[in-house]
This record gives sequence, structure tokens and C-alpha cells, in this order.
Amino acid sequence: MQEIIKQLDAKRELARLGGGQRRVDAHHAKGKLTARERIELLFDEGTFEEWDMFKEHRCNDFGMADNKVPGDGVVIGYGTVNGRMVFVFSQDFTVFGGALSEAHAEKICKVMDHAMKVGAPVIGLNDSGGARIQEGVAALGGYADVFQRNVMASGVVPQISLIMGPCAGGAVYSPAMTDFIFMVKDTSYMFVTGPEVVKTVTHEEVTAEELGGAVSHTTRSGVADLAFENDVEALLMLRRFINYLPLNNKEKSPIRPSADAADRIDLSLDTLVPENPNKPYDIKELIIKVVDDCDFFELQADHAKNIVIGFARMEGQTIGIVANQPLVMAGCLDIKSSIKAGRFVRFCDAFNIPIVTFVDVPGFMPGTAQEYGGIIKHGAKLLYAYAECTVPKITVITRKAYGGAYDVMASKHLRGDVNFAWPTAEIAVMGPKGAVEIIFREDKGDPAKLAAKEAEYKAKFANPFVASARGFIDDVIQPHETRKRICRSLVMLRNKKIENPWRKHGNIPL
Ligand code: HXC
Repeated sequence: MQEIIKQLDAKRELARLGGGQRRVDAHHAKGKLTARERIELLFDEGTFEEWDMFKEHRCNDFGMADNKVPGDGVVIGYGTVNGRMVFVFSQDFTVFGGALSEAHAEKICKVMDHAMKVGAPVIGLNDSGGARIQEGVAALGGYADVFQRNVMASGVVPQISLIMGPCAGGAVYSPAMTDFIFMVKDTSYMFVTGPEVVKTVTHEEVTAEELGGAVSHTTRSGVADLAFENDVEALLMLRRFINYLPLNNKEKSPIRPSADAADRIDLSLDTLVPENPNKPYDIKELIIKVVDDCDFFELQADHAKNIVIGFARMEGQTIGIVANQPLVMAGCLDIKSSIKAGRFVRFCDAFNIPIVTFVDVPGFMPGTAQEYGGIIKHGAKLLYAYAECTVPKITVITRKAYGGAYDVMASKHLRGDVNFAWPTAEIAVMGPKGAVEIIFREDKGDPAKLAAKEAEYKAKFANPFVASARGFIDDVIQPHETRKRICRSLVMLRNKKIENPWRKHGNIPL
């Protein structure tokens, strides 16, 4: 008996060594933690349960029959993060570069199936060279099995990908179908094909960093939500992030009690909006001053900065925030910002997270670049997302709400539950200057007349009272009481229930 127990210990020891000490040392030398070290940091101490530690690949080609590593390059299991159940797969780059074999895929599928059964999030710690080349179509099939599960889990349990190494081919498409992607600066990459293939096919010379590094994906492409300095920071932030989310689509997010009073007023908000309507201000100042403990977890902070998205809490309850940012492009909606916010709204809707929208938007961005890029279709994504969404929706118009963008930004007409405006709000088809130039075109040569018309238009429409006279705005509120009014509305909406008509699925303009 003692001998068998010793053998088990030895087997475990071998599995824990992954691809061997030499490769582990090389991995550490790059500043990366191993698959198991990452798991230790992610989970509450001593809570991780590992499965399939002895699983091996079944490939016999290219000398693989004699080249088996127990666990086959991925560590799977479950544990708790801040006391809540989470499933994980953590790819081990020291074993065939974390490449995915059929057996490796089966392990990932196993945790995903269990997560779906019990209703708990799946976190992928991705560090993989993609399909294991020696296995051919068996590996491709393995990827497709994972993809299918990603899609079935979408909107049922939260799925989060942390990219912690070079991820190529199939290794990027599974994360792409998860809800959030975080990357580690300097050590993680995501590309469909690496720089060498790019050079052969398109003759472009590009470094891995430029092509698919954390900076490229959090600024230019928007594929990743956030980039962190190193593995440790990424894992600790992931622990913090997951606290905002419910375990599955039937539950609500956990309440984190706060000492921040719901009726706290902030007088500095009364002067946030400048006198001059063309002068920008930072919408994040409003967000931070309104939410619990000034704590705002912003996502995609460096991509499409003209819209701000992220999670915060009010009276301990998670809320999703969407806010136009007047500091960037005057807060205009364009292709990238519509896609960014549209996807976020859909996540919140799928996972019972109320949405608070702060509006200061002069309209959709005009011009050929936007039109040829399909602003009509992409802008419609945000419109569609807000319109189909059934979670509580609270809207605060701080200044401009012009044209189609007024409609889009969680207006009353798109089933906004509580729509507030500050006294500084201007709700109209367009700004006074543009409006007068169109409707009084014949007075073009008479600047004095135009100025008088502009003043008249401004007095009539550049305020929140026309919209509130129609009931499109529920109340015009003092900026300093914004927190209190939102908190009350959230409490009132706690048991909100509305349902969309039955259908197989809608057809969001993709
Ligand atoms: C098998 C692989 C592998 C792979 C890496 N390795 N990728 N083994 N299949 N896909 C092995 C290497 O042979 C090496 O083994 C070890 O992992 C580390 O790799 P290195 O190249 O030494 O590391 P590094 O220089 O850091 O480069 C990492 C890398 C590079 C960028 C990931 O290895 C790479 O480009 N790999 C191929 C990527 C790729 O084209 N994958 C297939 C995509 S197609 P030793 O024994 O030396 O330690 C795909 C299809 C699915 O995924 C598509 C679905 C839509």
C-alpha cells in the first residue's frame, strides 16, 4: 500500500514538472509564471481541485508516441475566487508550447461542461501555439469542440480569457468568443498568423508586438479589454474583476456592502458642465463622483475613447456604465465606439446587470471614412443592443443629446426605465448653429438674422424642458443629487421584469 501511495506521489511530481525543469526555467526567464503558479495566484488558497492530471495525448506520428507528458499541456479544475466557484483551464507553454491536442481539448471541454452544469464562470489562462501540428485534423476537431462550447456557454456563464503568452491560430478564436479578454504586456500576443506568415503572404514586415501585442489589441483593434504589466498584476486584477459578475445568467451579481451613503451629494457636479457648450469636460469625473467609493473598473480604456464603459457599484449592487466622453471627438458616436458599447450593453443584459447611461453626444460622426466603414450598420448595433435589453436602464443626459444619438443612448423610447436630465441638457435634432443653417438657408447672407434665429432655436430647444413636457424625461435633476436619484431608481427597479417576444434569436446587424 505504502509503495502505491509513493508511486502516486511520484506520478504527481512528474506531472507538476510539465515540460521539464529546463523549459520551466526558460519560461520563468521570460518573466512568466507557470500554469500552476498562475492557478495558485488566481484561486483562494488551498481551494483548487485539479482533474485529469494524468491525461495523455494519443498521437503516434512524428515521434510523439515516446513523447508524452502527463496532463498534456493544460491544467484544469475548479476552486473559489473570493469564496465563489470558478472553473479554470491553464495552458502550460512548457509542454509543446501549450499547443492543443485532441486530449488537451477534451480537458478544456470537460471543465466547460461542468461549469455549465453547475452555473459557474470559466476562466481560460491562455498560453498556446494553437493547434498541435503533429496531430493534424484531430487537433482542429478539438478546437472546434471548444468553440462550440464557447458559443453554448455565451450568455449562460461568464467566460473570461487571460492571454498570458503567444497565442496563435485556434488559440485566439476561442478567446474571441468569450466575454472579456485581458492581456499581459510584453509577453502575450494574439494573432491569426504570426509575423513570418504575414511576411510571406502580404510582404509586410511587422514585429509580433506590433501585430498582436497587448498595446495593439487594447488600442487599435479593441480585441482585448485591458492590458496588465505582468502575470501577477493580471491575475490579481482578474480576481477583483470577477467580483462584479454573477456566477451565471439566472443569478444577480454579489452585493458588496459599502459605507458610501446612497444620498451622498456632490456639489462640485453643479459646475462640471462648462458654460460654453463647445468646451469639453471629463465624463469620468462624473462617474467617479457618483458610484460607490469612487471605484470604477473601466474596460477598453484605450480604445474608442469617445465612449466610456465599465463596472461600478451603487449601494453595493453591480452596474454597467456607458458614457459618452466629451473629451474625445466631442463624444461623437462612431463605428468603434458603437461596437464597444453595444457589446458591453449585451453582456450586462445577458447577466442581469443594470445599465446606467450618461449622455453627452452631439450625434454620429459624419464623413466618408465612417460611411464607407459602415457606420449605418455598426451604429445600429448599439441601437439594437439598447432596444432589446431588458435589465433596468437609467439614463442621465448631462448636456447634448442630439439627433439619432439621443434615440440610441437608452432613451425613453428604447424602454429607458428612468430618464433624467440635468438643467444643462440640450435635447434636439441637432445643435443650434447647424439647425439654423439648414432651416433658414435663404438667410445665409444675413448673419444678424441668422444669429437671431440661432438664439431663438437655442432658447426653444437647448434645454431639457421640451422633452420633459412630453414625458420623455422623467425629471430634471440637480447635478449634485445624481447619485441619490440613481440609487433610488435602482432600488425601485430591483424586481423589474419585462420579456421580449419569443423568437429563435434576433438578427443584430453584424
Ligand atoms: C506543436 C508547438 C506548436 C504547435 C509551438 N510548439 N507551437 N508544437 N504544435 N502549434 C512547440 C515548439 O516546437 C517548441 O517545442 C515549443 O512549443 C516552444 O515553441 P518555440 O517556437 O520555441 O517558442 P517561441 O519562440 O516563444 O514561439 C512561440 C510561437 C511559435 C509564436 C507560438 O512556436 C509558433 O509560431 N508556433 C506555431 C504557431 C502556429 O502556427 N500554430 C498553428 C496555428 S493553426 P520544444 O520541444 O522546442 O520546446 C491553428 C488551427 C486552428 O491553430 C484554427 C481554428 C480556427
